[in-house]
Amino acid sequence: MGCPTPLTPWLVSMTLRAWYVTSKVKRGAALREGSGIAVMSSCALYYFSSTGNSLAVALALAERLNAPEPISIPGSLVLPDPYFAAREAERVGFIFPTHRATLPEMVRGFIAKMPEHTDCYYFAVSTYTIFGCNEFADIDELLSAKGKRLNYAAAIQMMGNVGLRAPATRMVERRRANMREQVDEIADAVMNRQETYLPRANKALAYLVKRFTNARRRSIVFKVDKRCTRCGVCVQVCPAQNIELSKDGARAPIRSDKCEACLACVRWCPAEALSTRQAIHNRYHNPDIKPEQLNRTPQDTTPTTG
Ligand SMILES: Cc1cc2nc3c(=O)[nH]c(=O)nc-3n(C[C@H](O)[C@H](O)[C@H](O)COP(=O)(O)O)c2cc1C
Ligand code: SF4
Ligand code: SF4
Repeated sequence: MGCPTPLTPWLVSMTLRAWYVTSKVKRGAALREGSGIAVMSSCALYYFSSTGNSLAVALALAERLNAPEPISIPGSLVLPDPYFAAREAERVGFIFPTHRATLPEMVRGFIAKMPEHTDCYYFAVSTYTIFGCNEFADIDELLSAKGKRLNYAAAIQMMGNVGLRAPATRMVERRRANMREQVDEIADAVMNRQETYLPRANKALAYLVKRFTNARRRSIVFKVDKRCTRCGVCVQVCPAQNIELSKDGARAPIRSDKCEACLACVRWCPAEALSTRQAIHNRYHNPDIKPEQLNRTPQDTTPTTG
C-alpha cells in the first residue's frame, strides 16, 4: 500500500460532508410547519432531464399534486415568455439532476432570470446517483437576490450511469419504488407549504467544481461512428439544440461553449454510435420515459401513451 497523499483527509472530509448534506436533505427534515393548506390551488413544475429520471419524478409529482403537466425548461426557453406558468402560480417547483455537485447550468440561468412573485412558495427536487451538495444552497442564493428563498428541498437517489454495465432490472425496480415513496412525502410537504433544512454552500467545493466543470465542458470530444443511422434521436434529446445532422451523420456539439455536457445524446443514441473520447459509457436511461418527452415545448403536452 502506498502512502496517502496530503489530499486524502481533505477528500474524505469533503465526501463525508456531501453525504451528510444529501442524507439530511433526503430526509426532508422539516423545521417549521407551514400554513397547513391541504388543497393544491396553482402549481408550476419546471424540469430539466437528460436520462429521464427527473422527468419521471416531475410526472409522478404532478400526478400526486393534481398539478398541470410539468414544463420542460429547455422546451420553454424557445417561447416568447418562458415563465408564463410561474407568473400566477402559488407554488413553483424545480426538478433537475445534480450535475457536478450543483444544478445544471441551464437550470441556474432559468431561475436567475425568473421574475419574482409575491407569496410564492418555491421548492426544488434533485435526482442524483451518488451524492449532491450545493444545488439547494445555490438556488436559495439565486432566489435571495430577488428577495425570495427556497422554502423546501428534497433529493431522490435514482439509477444512473455509474459503472460499465447497464444496471440490473431488480435495482431499477427498487429505485423506482423508493422514488414513488419519496414523491408521496414531497407532495404532502409541498401541499402543506412545509419549510425544510437548507444546507449551507460548500464554497471550496463550488470553486473546484466550477474550475473543473468549465475546463471539462469545453474539452469534451464527441465521436460518431459509422453505425449512425441519422435517426435524429440525439437532436431531439439535446437540451441546447446543439446537434445537427449532415449526410454523413450527427455532429455534436455544434458549439462546445453551448454544450451542457449532460451526455443525453450519448445515453439515448439507439445505435450506440455516439460516444465521447473521455469516458466509457453504459447507456442507462429511464425506462418510463421516451426521448420525445424530454424537451417538448409547453403547448405540446398531450400525454404519451404506451
Ligand atoms: C454531467 C453530469 C454530472 C453529474 N454529477 C453528479 C453528481 O455530482 N452527483 C451525483 O450523485 N450524480 C451526478 N450525476 C448523475 C445524475 O445526477 C443522475 O443520474 C440523475 O438522476 C440524472 O437525472 P436526469 O435523468 O433527469 O438527467 C451527474 C450526471 C451528469 C450527466
Ligand atoms: S441518435 Fe445516434 S444513430 Fe441517431 S442520429 Fe444521433 S448519432 Fe446517429
Ligand atoms: S451535445 Fe452537449 S448539450 Fe447536447 S445532448 Fe450532447 S452533451 Fe447534452
